Amino acid sequence: MEIRGTDHSPLTWSGDALALAFFENAVEITGDLAQLDERLQGTLQELVTEIEFTGKAGQKAVTRVGSTTPIRKLILIGLGKIENFKRETLGNGAAAIARLAKKEKIKSLGVSLPLLEHQEAKTAAVISESVWLALHQDHRFKSDPEDKGLTLATIELLGLGNQVEAIAAGEKMAEGVILARELVAAPANVVTSITFAETAQELAHTYGLELQILEQVDCERLGMGAFLGVAKASEIPPKFIHLAYRPQNPRKKVAIVGKSLTFDSGGLNIKGAGSGIETMKTDMGGGAATLGAAKAIALLKPDVEVHFICAATENMISGKAMHPGDILTASNGKTIEVNNTDAEGRLTLADALVYAEKLGVEAIIDLATLTGACVVALGDDIAGLWSSDPTLAQQLKTAAEKSGEKFWEMPMEDKYFEGLKSPIADMKNTGPRAGGSITAALFLKQFIEKTPWAHLDIAGPVWTDKDNGVHNAGATGFPVRTLVNWVLS
Ligand code: BES
Ligand code: MN
Ligand code: ZN
Repeated sequence: MEIRGTDHSPLTWSGDALALAFFENAVEITGDLAQLDERLQGTLQELVTEIEFTGKAGQKAVTRVGSTTPIRKLILIGLGKIENFKRETLGNGAAAIARLAKKEKIKSLGVSLPLLEHQEAKTAAVISESVWLALHQDHRFKSDPEDKGLTLATIELLGLGNQVEAIAAGEKMAEGVILARELVAAPANVVTSITFAETAQELAHTYGLELQILEQVDCERLGMGAFLGVAKASEIPPKFIHLAYRPQNPRKKVAIVGKSLTFDSGGLNIKGAGSGIETMKTDMGGGAATLGAAKAIALLKPDVEVHFICAATENMISGKAMHPGDILTASNGKTIEVNNTDAEGRLTLADALVYAEKLGVEAIIDLATLTGACVVALGDDIAGLWSSDPTLAQQLKTAAEKSGEKFWEMPMEDKYFEGLKSPIADMKNTGPRAGGSITAALFLKQFIEKTPWAHLDIAGPVWTDKDNGVHNAGATGFPVRTLVNWVLS
């Protein structure tokens, strides 16, 4: 499929289907639209009247126009109130159009959507990214998928000029998101620490990234007792993955660290009934987005050096498993009493953060499906953001807005560290139930000395049970776009 921009307007374009978008209560067919309606033998006005189309957000309609008209089908979508129009509206509108065109087996589609912030290039990039994301469907595990291939061959973005670069940028971003989605959606018997490392290897090979994989013995040598404590019960060897994108004259150097638990059983504090243990293949969502961001960044080539770090393993039970009560020593020398083996993500991240800081980067971002408590606080669509650095927090919020991904800044309430005090070690890994996502962030903070750092708890948004904006039911690839936009800016 190809997406291209064109100077054609709905009045001059011809093809299989024309998609038009309307703001709420702005559906008068006058001026150019009246002329278009004439060209479509009155179908536009007829459809609007017949279904009482008002342009409300989420409204959509399709109709057959006729075999002698220059356009065979007409797609209408509602964008909601004009004063609420923003990036998300445009992306969701483009996604709705793409889904309808796919369902209707359209081959050539013309899309007319309003300009975002009066910028043709930005508009084209958002539409391109959103269309690719909405059309991506994961059939890898179906022997005979119902949905047989895509008929869509060309999508033309009307009135935007040619926009080759912006459209390509949108597609590159989507490719990164799709890699993350595919990693998250694949089950734990497919994506293991080994295959996860192989994916990193493939990226390194394809895009000329630098790759270092630390094996268990290397991690032992570095004193990564926290990461290795978690990895102990698994039959599959842990892999500490360090991928690096190094442009020629970088103006900045940063690190992205993703929680990469290919499965989280809870360990000996095993996840019980109703805990969602069967969904815990998604517990490498942070690492998946880290590799997804690496792919998009390798394609988009910003002048920033970026280090991608994933301490990959699974949290299992066996005779070798760490016990509740074990004391682990992390690679910065701090000791941790493991009062709950199910708070494993923070243990793996502890050593990953220490490693990242040793690289001498100017900022570190970690992203993790870290706590159910964060999902309770913010729901499925919004991730928690903690930062020790207001500038970095603001940069991330700006990047998130640019991406259509949602974050909410949460308090780094140092007083709550009391909940992590241990009588026997430097800290416990688990605090009280109340404020569970905050004590998790405070735990991670113990493994950063001075580098500006932000923590993203993405336990809610990595997955969606039903189609949601540009995402189809399943893995979302959250927050690849925010990470990439942050690096690009
Ligand atoms: N991977 C889970 C967090 C999680 C829970 C992600 C639900 C997605 C959905 C994490 O390792 C975990 O088990 N956290 C515990 C922490 C607790 C033991 C302090 C939790 O949230 O219950
Ligand atoms: Mn857990
Ligand atoms: Zn986990």
